[in-house]
Amino acid sequence: MPQKPLDKEEIAKMRIACRMAADVLSYTGKLIKPGMTTLEIDEIANDRTLTIGGVSACIGYHGYPKSTCISPNQVVCHGLPGDYVIKDGDIVNLDVTVKKDGFFGDTSKTFMIGQVSEDAKDLVAAAHEAMMIGIKAITPNGWTGDIGFETNKFVTRKGYTTIKEIGGHGIGRVFHDEPFVPAYGKKGKGEKLRPWTCFTVEPMVNEGTDEFIERTIHGSSIKYYETADGLLSAQFEHTILLTDTGYEILTLEP
Ligand code: MF3
Ligand code: CO
Ligand code: CO
Repeated sequence: MPQKPLDKEEIAKMRIACRMAADVLSYTGKLIKPGMTTLEIDEIANDRTLTIGGVSACIGYHGYPKSTCISPNQVVCHGLPGDYVIKDGDIVNLDVTVKKDGFFGDTSKTFMIGQVSEDAKDLVAAAHEAMMIGIKAITPNGWTGDIGFETNKFVTRKGYTTIKEIGGHGIGRVFHDEPFVPAYGKKGKGEKLRPWTCFTVEPMVNEGTDEFIERTIHGSSIKYYETADGLLSAQFEHTILLTDTGYEILTLEP
């Protein structure tokens, strides 16, 4: 079922949840250093979430055990925080979803740790630009395919690939809702974008093949994914509010 439009009060709650997610992401991102484990980073993010009055939407979501997803290097998304030690030269996506007053804010960024290779810098810059180009393709009553088309065109021209099977999603009263927002598509196709609903734009951009390996997370039906060729993958994510005249990015940095 397509999402029901959000009323003024619900939009106000979305703004708050999204601002909190952006706060946790930027606060935690600044503290990522070589030598830390991804579990330590997750604990910092969870503490910050609680300090500012939110809760992680990820803990317990389909049995997922941690507060955030942390996806270094070849990990495409849903990386499970654990004993992986961050190294100088890594690229690390931190994905934060905060729940506040029944509403969800979802945002992620790929951080470059220390001296990163030129290839990795180019990929991370392209992933950010891919997200922004996708966002700029949003129009009220447009289509998810408008976003995917522009994203994939840009990424392909750069010589990279986009993940096709995983992507953005409606968000608001629930964490994952309609529509599915893929990082590829055709203009005017896909699902309709409805004013006064929210959704995420979160393309995953791979250095090499778009094929990936699915890995299980103990006790959870959530999977995590790695590139099939072991090359790098980068991602950025914002939560967007569609209005009747345009859109607003709700997860901009504080
Ligand atoms: N934040 C992820 C997304 O962008 C979803 C993570 S679900 C979890 O949609 F359970 F793995 F946390
Ligand atoms: Co998301
Ligand atoms: Co996310």
